Amino acid sequence: MKVQVRRRVDEARDVVALELGAVQGELLPPFSAGAHIDVRLPSNLTRQYSLCNSPADRTRYLIGVLLDPASRGGSKAMHAVREGEILEISEPRNHFPLHPAAHSVLLAGGIGITPILCMAEQLAHVGASFELHYCVRSDDRLAFRDRLAQSDFSGRVHTYVDALPGGPHFDLQTVLANPLPEKHVYVCGPGGFIDAVVQTAAALNWAEGCVHREYFAGTEPVKEGERPFQVRLASSGQCIPVHPTQSIAQALMAHGIDVPLSCEQGVCGTCLTRVLKGEPDHRDLYLSRAEREAHDQILVCCSRSRSAELILDI
Ligand code: FES
Repeated sequence: MKVQVRRRVDEARDVVALELGAVQGELLPPFSAGAHIDVRLPSNLTRQYSLCNSPADRTRYLIGVLLDPASRGGSKAMHAVREGEILEISEPRNHFPLHPAAHSVLLAGGIGITPILCMAEQLAHVGASFELHYCVRSDDRLAFRDRLAQSDFSGRVHTYVDALPGGPHFDLQTVLANPLPEKHVYVCGPGGFIDAVVQTAAALNWAEGCVHREYFAGTEPVKEGERPFQVRLASSGQCIPVHPTQSIAQALMAHGIDVPLSCEQGVCGTCLTRVLKGEPDHRDLYLSRAEREAHDQILVCCSRSRSAELILDI
């Protein structure tokens, strides 16, 4: 659907907040905390951005965009967007929903604050117990500072600035010290931050199902030096070779097979496909460890095969 950029605000160093409103009518489709939208850029790239306004506010979608120096064009294009422009977006989807819990621990690294902020507002709205820990590298990168400070849950927000000598220190061991089945952890931010949380939680015996994560940056595009393999379509028996410099999705599309794609970085789950036989080589950031080990599904935009052949449920 088409939306109009109503406001563009420099929210923090390298972070812009874009407020999107309906082009026709007043209300936008509803969403829940943790949801994201796909934004189609003029260059035809598609990128996902978490919604960070309150789900109760149906008049706008608010997104925060970090300018990534390693950007393949997505964040640069988004930073160039001006007020009044029309953007094409998907309806909100949620791969990072809140779960009923006696207490929620919300952890944000940098721009990972966007879905976490939305979750905090939702939890505060329903009177649920939670705490929010927000880590940034420097003070000028603290996005949504005023909104956090003015919220009625500001007392539950802990901010940590790496470059601030003498400031509070983010101690993951302490924050995750008491795993309980009725507590849930949500983490969003750079890959290293998420990995540290997931590994610490595992070491402290948190159940995997109580630790929820959402990555922003995806996997690298296919590199040279990969091994070729083939995929077989279960419905027709057709065999399709996947060359070393191709993804499975590219190979399928080259043979006229339609593949639903969005992020093309192993982050969003749109291209999830059932595997009936063979051993996937998972390269995505979407599946949990248990899902990977089951070997029965694959993200075809980025993952490959350890076996000479994969039979896909296509
Ligand atoms: S298209 Fe997003 S994970 Fe494959």
